[in-house]
Amino acid sequence: MSIPVLTIDGPSGAGKGTVSRAVAKKLGWHYLDSGSIYRSLAIASLRQNINLDNPQEITDVAARMRLEFDCLDELIVKLDGEDITAQLGSEQTGSVASKIAAIPEVRAILLQKQRDFKQLPGLVADGRDMGTVVFPDAKYKVFLTASAAERAVRRYKQLIEKGIDVNLQKITEEIEARDRRDMEREAAPLAMAADAIYIDSSDMSLEVVIQEVLNLIR
Ligand code: C5P
Repeated sequence: MSIPVLTIDGPSGAGKGTVSRAVAKKLGWHYLDSGSIYRSLAIASLRQNINLDNPQEITDVAARMRLEFDCLDELIVKLDGEDITAQLGSEQTGSVASKIAAIPEVRAILLQKQRDFKQLPGLVADGRDMGTVVFPDAKYKVFLTASAAERAVRRYKQLIEKGIDVNLQKITEEIEARDRRDMEREAAPLAMAADAIYIDSSDMSLEVVIQEVLNLIR
């Protein structure tokens, strides 16, 4: 029996996480937050004090790290047995994640870890290359985006809510830098799959986006 997969790709702060989690919950499907895998690797690499400019050292950490995911109401991530969920969301983690995500050997090692999430009754996979590289045969594909200004405001509010002290101007610059890095890299760059549905959520509430994605599947 083929396992249905919905991929939701797009730049950071477009609302992919919120939309993917809500849709997965509604359908009773599994959820893969692929960004959290790259973020976990960033945390593991920072902790081990390795040279972040040396792809081989990062690839070794990627091969060794043990990740466990638990997605009940909130996603819980454990790295080598320790709950690191609280550290995943920071901009520093996101920024280091996007640097190491540009290394092809790292992406190759993480490919199977991501494909293992494909299990019955179905999977919602959120990231940058879900529809293009990780699950190219997915039945449903969405490319979710929003203007950089709108994404920066959303990210700002999210971080403030989590009690993380941030500055909107700095967030905007970081988002723009991360977009550039994710789109311009050679290995699995952020790109829309030819068969994906394009949704620009700049002027849409996330509830409306969730409904639109659910309509696509039903
Ligand atoms: O989605 P999130 O902001 O958590 O992702 C953090 C970083 O991980 C992204 O900026 C991107 O560089 C990288 N990433 C990736 N491929 C994915 C998901 C995330 O390269 N499928």
